[in-house]
Amino acid sequence: MVASWPEPIVSVQALSQTGISTVPNRYVKPAHQRPVYNSNQSDADMDIPVVDMSKVWGKPEGLMSVRGACEEWGFFQVVNHGVSHDLMERMRGAWREFFELPLEEKRKYANSPETYEGYGSRLGVVKDAKLDWSDYFFLNYLPSSIRSPSKWPSQPPKIRELIEEYGEEVTKLCERLVETLSESLGLKPNRLMKALGGEDSVGATLRANFYPKCPQPQLTLGLSSHSDPGGITIVLPDEKVAGLQVRRGDYWVTVKSVPNALIVNIGDQVQILSNGIYKSVEHQVIVNSGMDRISLALFYNPRSDIPIGPVKELITENQPALYKPIRFDEYRLLIRQKGPCGKNQVDSLLSSR
Ligand code: OGA
Ligand code: NI
Repeated sequence: MVASWPEPIVSVQALSQTGISTVPNRYVKPAHQRPVYNSNQSDADMDIPVVDMSKVWGKPEGLMSVRGACEEWGFFQVVNHGVSHDLMERMRGAWREFFELPLEEKRKYANSPETYEGYGSRLGVVKDAKLDWSDYFFLNYLPSSIRSPSKWPSQPPKIRELIEEYGEEVTKLCERLVETLSESLGLKPNRLMKALGGEDSVGATLRANFYPKCPQPQLTLGLSSHSDPGGITIVLPDEKVAGLQVRRGDYWVTVKSVPNALIVNIGDQVQILSNGIYKSVEHQVIVNSGMDRISLALFYNPRSDIPIGPVKELITENQPALYKPIRFDEYRLLIRQKGPCGKNQVDSLLSSR
């Protein structure tokens, strides 16, 4: 991986705050990638499923709702998920405060494409690429051996403790969800976790996304279409500002967040492990001219140094192994080099058939 960005980094938030009335060319997407605003009322009414985890955990009949959501959407909101609502609110607030700090303060954490850790404004190192209308802060949470709070923001006060606390609660939720997914695939409860490398070796990273308001939201995207490369993702959305869109066939469905819910989505590694039964679904983020938006994505990933391929029990005569095994440390390089590019990467692993 190259050591530095191909062009000087421009904070989108700082750009937005200059009050410009047009979007600079480097953020203007080609016409086919620009947001589509669905006019059809039935599309506007569609939304990803909401799963009440209190009806799933300890209740085998609830597993079918999870299976349905994973097969049909690859995305669902969870309520009664066990993560403290107060903690969720404090976490959102702290990150909002971080992004409100002066640019010089945030720049102290400027990241590089080598690790992506820190404050950044682009994904991918392709020169002259069209960029997304967002800034972010990226950090490693698990394995704890690579956790380095000294690289995390030191302001607002207590944000580091908050990240630790949030990470602990959300990774606990991930452990339970991985068990649920495993059972919903008809596997032993601990099978999927074992395939991810085991509870003590999995990875987790956190990305705080900041989507500044945008003078011409119809020309750009806050985050271009992609599927998440990892295992599962838990998104803490901005409850006041919508923006996340999930692909549903030829449409984009805008998620309307339910109060205190978290959004769960399947990543490429679970698509591979499940031998294609569950699919990582493409999603993107649109921006708007009136309000900034913030979101926090926790990516729960396999151990990075073991090959990840379809689990044996899901390979049958009728459904031979669809994907060639690959290590996650190798897999994640593509999005880090090329930036978000739909579902191209997982499709490239399809065994030749
Ligand atoms: C991501 C992502 C969605 C959002 O960070 O990978 O898809 O709502 N975020 O910000
Ligand atoms: Ni994503």
